[in-house]
Amino acid sequence: MRVHVADHPLVTHKLTVLRDKRTPSPTFRALAEELVTLLAYEATRSVRVEPIEVETPVAQATGLAISDPKPLVVPILRAGLGMLEGMVKLMPNAEVGFLGMVRNEETLQPAIYAERLPEDLSNRQCFILDPMLATGGSLLAAIEYLFDRGAVDVTAVCLIAAPEGLKAVEEATQGRNLTVVLGALDEKLNEVGYIVPGLGDAGDRLYGTV
Ligand code: URA
Repeated sequence: MRVHVADHPLVTHKLTVLRDKRTPSPTFRALAEELVTLLAYEATRSVRVEPIEVETPVAQATGLAISDPKPLVVPILRAGLGMLEGMVKLMPNAEVGFLGMVRNEETLQPAIYAERLPEDLSNRQCFILDPMLATGGSLLAAIEYLFDRGAVDVTAVCLIAAPEGLKAVEEATQGRNLTVVLGALDEKLNEVGYIVPGLGDAGDRLYGTV
C-alpha cells in the first residue's frame, strides 16, 4: 500500500477551516470540494494515459489522453458524495459509480446496501472517495469489493485518517495495488470511533443531521 499525505499549505489551510466546529454546512461543502480537487491532483498522478497527436495552430504536437477504460470514481454514500464534484472537476471524463455502505447491527460488519457500478471492472483504475478513514471497516469492504470485481488498481482519497484505520487497511490489503491519498493523518481514534482531532461527523457537517 502506498500512502501519500498531502504536504501543501493550501490543503492544511482548508482542512483547518473544515475542522473548525463553527464552519457552517455551505462553507464546509464548498471547502471540501476545493480540498478534494487538490487531493485529486495527487491521487491521479498515475492515471493511465496514452500518446495522441494534435494540430496546434502552429505545428503538430504529441500530447496525452486518458486511456480507455476510463477511470471510475466511486463515492461511498453518504459523506463521499461531498467529495464527488471536487474529483470530477479535475477529471471530467471519468465515469462515476456509487457504493452505499452500512454497518450490520448484528454482525457489526460493514455491508453494501446500494451498488451502482459498471458490470465489468476488469482493467479499471478506481478512485474511492470516503472523507474519514476511521476504523477502516467500510473503506476496506469497498476496496475488497472493487478488487473482487476485477479492478486493477484502487486509490482511496480521504480527507483525514486515523493511524489505527490506516494500519488495519494496510494489513488487510497486502499485495494489492492500493494507494491512499490523505489530507491529514490525525492522532488517534477515540472510544466511540471518532477521529481525534478530526472534524466530527463528516456526513452531518456536509448535509446536516438526519
Ligand atoms: N466518520 C466521521 O464522519 N467522522 C469521524 O471522526 C469518524 C468516522
